[in-house]
Amino acid sequence: MSTEQIRIPLGKPGDFHVHLRQGDLMKIVTPTITQGGVSIVYVMPNLVPPLIDVDAVLAYKAQLQELSPETTFLMSLYLRPEITPEVIAQAAKAGITGVKCYPAGVTTNSAAGVSSYEPYYPTFKAMEEHNMVLNLHGECPSGDDITVLNAEHKFLPTLAGLHSRFPKLRIILEHCTSKAAVDAVLACGPTVAATITAHHLFLTVDSWGGNALNFCKPVAKLPSDRTALIEAATSGNPKFFFGSDSAPHPVSAKRKELGAAAGVFTQPYAIQYVAEIFDNAGKLDKLKGFVTDFGRDFYQTSEDKDVGKKSVTLVKADTVVSESIGAEDLTVIPFLASQSLKWTVEWE
Ligand code: DOR
Ligand code: ZN
Repeated sequence: MSTEQIRIPLGKPGDFHVHLRQGDLMKIVTPTITQGGVSIVYVMPNLVPPLIDVDAVLAYKAQLQELSPETTFLMSLYLRPEITPEVIAQAAKAGITGVKCYPAGVTTNSAAGVSSYEPYYPTFKAMEEHNMVLNLHGECPSGDDITVLNAEHKFLPTLAGLHSRFPKLRIILEHCTSKAAVDAVLACGPTVAATITAHHLFLTVDSWGGNALNFCKPVAKLPSDRTALIEAATSGNPKFFFGSDSAPHPVSAKRKELGAAAGVFTQPYAIQYVAEIFDNAGKLDKLKGFVTDFGRDFYQTSEDKDVGKKSVTLVKADTVVSESIGAEDLTVIPFLASQSLKWTVEWE
């Protein structure tokens, strides 16, 4: 019997939805991007205060670059009334890639978010003209028979409406979690895509009811929704690609008796988690499309433009997820802490 290791070249993978935070937590989290087998990331702007200014985004990018010199950082602004068509022109010129839209109050640092879309039509028009990406957190705020369980479903007509009004605007339905969302994205033209996280390929309602570490927004849904996500991710359809939504919170913020913070931390093992699912589904041949090619195609960024020169090989060898990273009041517990995964990554 051959003892040769199974090795699968993945090129330079991308994670097109990450939260890298600020201050000391940023210093802990940002260097783990490489450990998770990722060369390029798209960075979320929900800092305190939110990133609504081109210079602030560029200053943040410089901090991140220093912490992880081999990573390529694509940056975003936070949609607010301050993001006028003029700011879009300035942002495009400065190399900022997109704008993230958070409905008010749906998740971490979204209090300053959007409560209606019409006022932003001139901004969306300018984004279309400047070829910028609109990243949608696709949930309606709770109220009026809306809860965390149907908040994404209720948002889908908004996605369809924005797409038909701005057909050339590249739109991403971020971290989609349901069969209905997959179908809605499939029904749109090629300018609309969706990211899928690693954790939503594992979790269902039962995983977070009673376990705050698995609580995130949008929440994981039914087993049939998870099946639809796995099918979409492993389908080879370029409309679906990887965005981890890795969202670290100190364990003290997760374990609060009231109001546990939403977010699952996956950055240090991002590709390893996804590989586990693709392996279990017998679809490892589709992994490179999902984690490397499709996101890059949508973001129009080829591997040779990356700052880092090395590529990733997936290797059949166990990875044991650490118990925690950081220390003291900045201790963060990664997804599937202390468990064993079947694949590891090598850079070469
Ligand atoms: O679970 C989440 N956590 N979902 C989001 O949309 C935001 C994120 C965070 O920043 O913690
Ligand atoms: Zn997010």
